[in-house]
Amino acid sequence: MELINILKERSSVRNYAEKKVEPEKLEKILEAAHVAPTAANLQPIHLIAVQSKEGLDKIGKAANIYGAPLAIIVCADHNKAWVRPFDNKQTGDIDASILTDHMMLQATELGLGSVWVCYFKPDVLSKEFNLPENLEPINILVLGYSNEGCVDTTRFDRARIPMEQLVSYENL
Ligand SMILES: Cc1cc2nc3c(=O)[nH]c(=O)nc-3n(C[C@H](O)[C@H](O)[C@H](O)COP(=O)(O)O)c2cc1C
Repeated sequence: MELINILKERSSVRNYAEKKVEPEKLEKILEAAHVAPTAANLQPIHLIAVQSKEGLDKIGKAANIYGAPLAIIVCADHNKAWVRPFDNKQTGDIDASILTDHMMLQATELGLGSVWVCYFKPDVLSKEFNLPENLEPINILVLGYSNEGCVDTTRFDRARIPMEQLVSYENL
């Protein structure tokens, strides 16, 4: 499928079937993260893939993961992330989000539903997974088979701001 069509196929799924994600699909999703670019190729990310009931319950203390059978906690390692020297901006969050997006789109191509979750209690998540100080959970990617039926791939003229608001050419 053309990339633009995969992008249009993706939508946030908040109702999942019980069916587990096959190991080979998880492996492909993780491979998509592995090939993602990061600032200065420092790769300051650690992923925690969670599928066990115990692990999903731990995530459930920090976030709503909509009954999904798989969640990947995307952590930025602040000891490794690139820092821009002019203003000390650290790009760990950006790197984490690129990996998250790669995984989300790979999941779409594999016929899986997903939702990107930032509405979580970071302190609870860090405690439940014994994360060291340098690892900050940035995103949770929730994955599984959708129970939501067909996606309207033509929804973007309503669901997004007009292109003229999004883009300007040459000047603001
Ligand atoms: C950075 C980010 C954080 C998000 N956090 C949440 C979240 O915590 N819970 C949730 O249900 N959806 C979350 N979403 C999903 C957005 O609400 C969703 O992408 C947006 O409404 C557009 O809908 P669509 O994904 O179906 O196209 C998040 C998306 C992004 C990109």
